[in-house]
Amino acid sequence: MAFFKSSTRTIPDAGGVPRHVAIIMDGNGRWAKKYFLPRFAGHSRGVETVREAVRYCLGRGIGYLTLFAFSSENWRRPMEEVSLLMQLFTKALKQEVAKLDDNGVRLKIVGDVSRFDARLQELIHDAEITTAANAKLTLTVAANYGGRWDIVQALNRMAVELPEKQGQWTEDDFAPYLAMNHAPEPDLFIRTGGEERISNFLLWQLAYTEFYFTATLWPEFDAAAFDLAVASYQKRERRFGRVSEQLTVDAGETPASGDAKLHA
Ligand code: IPE
Ligand code: IPE
Ligand code: MG
Repeated sequence: MAFFKSSTRTIPDAGGVPRHVAIIMDGNGRWAKKYFLPRFAGHSRGVETVREAVRYCLGRGIGYLTLFAFSSENWRRPMEEVSLLMQLFTKALKQEVAKLDDNGVRLKIVGDVSRFDARLQELIHDAEITTAANAKLTLTVAANYGGRWDIVQALNRMAVELPEKQGQWTEDDFAPYLAMNHAPEPDLFIRTGGEERISNFLLWQLAYTEFYFTATLWPEFDAAAFDLAVASYQKRERRFGRVSEQLTVDAGETPASGDAKLHA
């Protein structure tokens, strides 16, 4: 299997659509409160927004969409909310997989799924198998995911599989063990709901991602709001350590100077 090399080595065209968008879908609870509804109603409405975001990416030719659905810290919420979220996830998998498949969407779940009940694990497994060959959009749902968990699980697997290189492991040795090894690094990170933090989402992969924070609550994050995020991204100049003048000269393939030394 081919893995993606770090996208920070080359200069992607930020003027185009982002290849990979990663989103922290936050603000469901506050949306519900605003309309005097129970928190769960916000999560239900949030699933509608997921559908809309998938449609948006399919329509705009965005190849990878990664959504943070449940963090490794979200187990700290009241048991009732956790259990309702699990039910909602189960229901969404049952209802949506056939439709995703019809639309050419490959579904991937990243996170420690071993903590989910057996039925949910089975649904996840089946959904991934069913949609594995689709290539229009890769939709990755991070569930019981934590960026630190990911780094530690990758390290543990690498240590077992490459013991002879201990003390000399490189970034290129390590990256294939990360849960997101099926996708290039995100170009655009969006967090809805007004908070400006990563909350243990993709720590390794966001190293050079463009960040966009919006106060819009996730249930209200529609195509127009998504457009604003993409437009903001398209105005950015991505330098990956270089100076502005180098970008027009090197545009495209030139590896970062010093890169050869680092990765030789
Ligand atoms: C995000 O919305 C969804 C999950 C974390 C599952 P929240 O539930 O965090 O909504 P707020 O932040 O309380 O508004
Ligand atoms: C982050 O949202 C996790 C998800 C959106 C799944 P939280 O609402 O849990 O984040 P914090 O606790 O406010 O940082
Ligand atoms: Mg929140």
